[in-house]
Amino acid sequence: MPFVITDPCIGTKDSACVDVCPVDCIHPRKDEPEFDTATMLYIHPEECIDCGACVPACPVAAIYDSVESTPASQKTLVEANALFRTGEPDAVAKAEAIVKSHVASHPELMAIDPNDRAAAHLKS
Ligand code: F3S
Ligand code: F3S
Repeated sequence: MPFVITDPCIGTKDSACVDVCPVDCIHPRKDEPEFDTATMLYIHPEECIDCGACVPACPVAAIYDSVESTPASQKTLVEANALFRTGEPDAVAKAEAIVKSHVASHPELMAIDPNDRAAAHLKS
């Protein structure tokens, strides 16, 4: 099962995960044009080989090791991860729309500092 980036990445976009990923499945990278406008980064579910390197690399614990382990409050972001690099013309916009909807529907999480947001996932 693929790994999933969730909302502590919003407002952080640390990119340490990109640096450790052996298969370049996390995007957008800092050298890609979408980086500045992307609200968060995304893991391509079919390219991820479940190596686990990204989880300890993320300073805000944004990454879960499967869809199943992704908390209920974060489930909509599973689709955003999957969409981002499908290559369809509107894929990036669709992924970003899901993230913006997530932000709008979870003001209680967005009010928490990204460093502490993952700890709040289990309560939300
Ligand atoms: Fe997947 Fe993370 Fe490795 S995205 S390939 S588990 S670095
Ligand atoms: Fe985001 Fe953490 Fe990677 S903040 S960019 S998932 S290192």
